Amino acid sequence: MSDRKLLVTDPASDQTLELPVVAGSEGDPTIDIAKLYPSLGYFTFDPGYGSTASCQSDITFIDGQQGILRYRGYPIEQLAENASFLEVAYLLLYGELPTSTQYAEFERDITYHTMVHEKINNFINGFHYDAHPMAILSGVVGSMAAFYHDKLDVKDPEQRELAAKRLIAKMPTIAAAAYRHHMGWPVAYPRNSLDYSERFLDMMFSVPAEQYTVNPVAAKALNLLFILHADHEQNASTSTVRLVGSTGANPYACVSAGLAALWGPAHGGANEAVLNMLNEIGDISKAGEFMARAKDKNDPFRLMGFGHRVYKNFDPRATIIRQACYEVLEELGQSDPLLDLAMELEKIALEDEYFVERKLYPNVDFYSGIIYKALGIPTSMFTAMFAIGRTVGWVSHWLEQSASAHRIGRPRQVYTGATAREYTSIDDRKPSA
Ligand code: CMC
Repeated sequence: MSDRKLLVTDPASDQTLELPVVAGSEGDPTIDIAKLYPSLGYFTFDPGYGSTASCQSDITFIDGQQGILRYRGYPIEQLAENASFLEVAYLLLYGELPTSTQYAEFERDITYHTMVHEKINNFINGFHYDAHPMAILSGVVGSMAAFYHDKLDVKDPEQRELAAKRLIAKMPTIAAAAYRHHMGWPVAYPRNSLDYSERFLDMMFSVPAEQYTVNPVAAKALNLLFILHADHEQNASTSTVRLVGSTGANPYACVSAGLAALWGPAHGGANEAVLNMLNEIGDISKAGEFMARAKDKNDPFRLMGFGHRVYKNFDPRATIIRQACYEVLEELGQSDPLLDLAMELEKIALEDEYFVERKLYPNVDFYSGIIYKALGIPTSMFTAMFAIGRTVGWVSHWLEQSASAHRIGRPRQVYTGATAREYTSIDDRKPSA
């Protein structure tokens, strides 16, 4: 709490209330409105939460005006350049980068939990072959509460930590199994001699009939993307995990809800939507036509991968991924006309009054699909890839909330429906106009 206060005066009652200003370690000052309703009888109205901080958190800092993103104080650029995904996972979970001993122990723990109960594979087999991987992930992760119910006491910190590790360890296993189910391939069990990203690629692409060797370029690219996806403070899916967690629900239910929220095209589903959009545009010569459609308020078409609630400047993750696109394509000896098309769309947008005025810049999803495509990952799996990285953020926030005093999340509303009226018997009712 800072010494600053905001005075609110209600002319109707002539009452004045002092509202404390909450100061974080950095970031915009925030008014604590908890006393507003009890004292003056007013709620606040903020649909979409554009001006609302829902909690205090030590995990991730974003400055949307300057395009800054830091995990536990470390700039995303430095982590992307130097760290392994599990190092970042440790950082997000525990607040500090691990020593080599702590890292070895953490990696061993995660690796130990990579297998899933065999009956989970039966469960996956029950889905139709063309089920979307996010539908499978959300359903199967929710079902984990039925498979691992011996350690579900959310009041016990050790059991919470175990659930968090299980989720980080098993998410890639389940995601790869969802893909293999679609392909009609037998399940590939996790090979624990590989690291996190290599193991995922092996579970995705190895088949019993052939020797599969993980391409180190692909593993390095995945490591980078998982780091960039790992956390983003109170985004829609993380807020969903926290809201569900505030009821005392089990961690698998919370993360299953987070997966469902992530799937939406305004959120993590945008990476799949971007690639579909680039394919639909098809050619640089059509870029102008589609940009005009994106600006037309009578056309539902939006430039997917553009815009962000918080960033009013470049999304720093997009800058890193754009550079990585070139490197990965070059190292894999590939070229992709969709990258040229994406660059052209970006160029037009950065010079266009509509996009400049609204501060719409490329976000994390604009370029990531081009890398996933180069690695052979099908478009329908893109959001599942995002989910693997974001699982670390979800469980870090769930652990942070669970370890501190918190109330059930329960917003109010501005009621706009019918006022009180009398019940009439069915025979006396007239059809409404
Ligand atoms: N294309 C065209 N116009 C846009 C776009 C876009 N992609 N994004 C925002 N606008 C316009 C919007 O129509 C509005 O215009 P006006 O002021 O004339 O009504 C203005 O810009 C402000 O947009 P908003 O919808 O009020 O902004 P928001 O903060 O509620 O939504 C967003 C943010 C990310 C949902 C939105 O920009 C969007 O739908 N982008 C495309 C989907 C996308 O790329 N999502 C991924 C987000 S980043 C990763 C993640 O969250 O997982």
